[in-house]
Amino acid sequence: MNKVVGIDALAAYVPKTFLELVPEKKVDGKYVETEFCKSRRLAPAFEKCGDLPSYIADGVGVYQFGVPDGHEDSVTMGAMAFKKLIDDNDLNISDIGRVFVGTETPVDNSKPNAIYINGAIERHFGGSMRNCTPVDMKFACAGATVALELLGEWIESGKSKGRYGVAIATDISTYPLRTREEVTQGAGAIAMLVSENPRLLAFENGSEEITSTVSKDEKDFFRPVTQHTAVVDGQLSIGSYLSTCKEALLDYRNKAVSQGIIAAGGLLTDNVDRLLLHLPFYKMGEYASSALFKNEWRGTSRFDEIVKEIGFPEPKNGDKVKEKDFEKKFRESKIFKEAFSQKVESGLLASRRTGNIYTGSIYASLMSMLENDARKGTDLNGKRFGFGSYGSGSLFKAFTARIQPEFKEVVSKMDLLKQLDERNSKGSLSLDDYERLHEKGMVKSDSIIEPHQEFVLDRIGNTSLDSGYRYYRFVD
Ligand code: HMG
Repeated sequence: MNKVVGIDALAAYVPKTFLELVPEKKVDGKYVETEFCKSRRLAPAFEKCGDLPSYIADGVGVYQFGVPDGHEDSVTMGAMAFKKLIDDNDLNISDIGRVFVGTETPVDNSKPNAIYINGAIERHFGGSMRNCTPVDMKFACAGATVALELLGEWIESGKSKGRYGVAIATDISTYPLRTREEVTQGAGAIAMLVSENPRLLAFENGSEEITSTVSKDEKDFFRPVTQHTAVVDGQLSIGSYLSTCKEALLDYRNKAVSQGIIAAGGLLTDNVDRLLLHLPFYKMGEYASSALFKNEWRGTSRFDEIVKEIGFPEPKNGDKVKEKDFEKKFRESKIFKEAFSQKVESGLLASRRTGNIYTGSIYASLMSMLENDARKGTDLNGKRFGFGSYGSGSLFKAFTARIQPEFKEVVSKMDLLKQLDERNSKGSLSLDDYERLHEKGMVKSDSIIEPHQEFVLDRIGNTSLDSGYRYYRFVD
């Protein structure tokens, strides 16, 4: 008999320190210019952006992003999310058989973040994870999805023997200062408990693999081992994301139809109640969902109605300017806006404040959606969520999962939005402090906010036997 496997619970961690790019509230109908905007207005990369606050807040869709404090790194953030997962769910750490960490910001080239995190957790909780397998999974922003898939398969195979799997996404997105991509940075971690008979979301894979995978050797985004900031070709990265996304989702639809998950002739976007996509910044959520809806609606009466509203047919002669205009008008059409607001938008809200947290982005988006729905009191029981996870370089994975009857209890413990709401003026960084933290790379530096009840990077070894070794501890 097939096992029901999926995500039992999720926990998030975002740094308390953040950079405010643009305040959310307008004054007299205009965004207030921050220190950041004043400084970047003069940078060549932003020369052609016109009103910089509107470009950042409306064009890209971010207000602020998290910046790890001097004592934080991808291990401390991962350990914080893992600790919350254990606390929220009264887990006994010896019941966890595998900890797979999706990260593209590892702290060491040999020792995985996963064992650093497990060590910190063991010391804090006092138990043993001696028989647990801790491994890092690297594929840009898709690492945590690969972790989730492999953990799901391990549990489904029966070899887990009742033990849990934990997938942790933890990353710090860093681009060089004063570049166009600087506003799409961020930091944070998400920990996910993977189990049999999950209380939150059950994968719809049954005994067959119906995750759809598209991979292609691409150079849209990478970070050479000697660099702490990424190199990106922004427009290529968007193009690569969109083309693999369409290919994977079409393949997923075909597989779902052949296995009776979707009726023959049915559209995937009609058969999912919610759509979650990798989210480097808010606007990308619009680009990706509109590309999917457009692809599926072409040839239907909905598409004809949209074309009528736009006023000209979809260009087919390779005229890029006309194509961009059509796409923009498609995103502004009544039918798209309705579908977007029903199925996509609530998942994009937190990213306006977390920034791009790389491999955790899609799962932060899931939490954003679940927490927003809980605030509105929506009953999600039985709803189908569609996932599209992209990692540059490139890999796209598509799958669906169904909300389980006990979801409310699990969602009530989530606090991503609360953490963001509670970040206060103490954590709002001056431009100088932000630039100092940005440039610190892998080094520990002075903390802006004194650590309290959290894991910290205590020191970095400097003797012949521990040069570069990272020591972590919990500060009460
Ligand atoms: P860009 O060159 O600024 O893009 O770069 P743009 O010129 O197209 O502008 C964006 C939007 O701002 C447009 O909106 C403009 O019109 C609008 P649209 O027309 O498309 O609706 N705009 C304005 N709006 C209001 N007021 C104004 C104004 N001016 C222009 N004054 C880009 C944006 C994302 C490319 C850049 O930030 C970048 O390179 N970011 C990093 C890479 C990235 O996030 N890529 C996304 C896909 S790849 C991915 O997601 C993987 C990743 O997470 C890594 C991993 O896998 O590990 C990055």
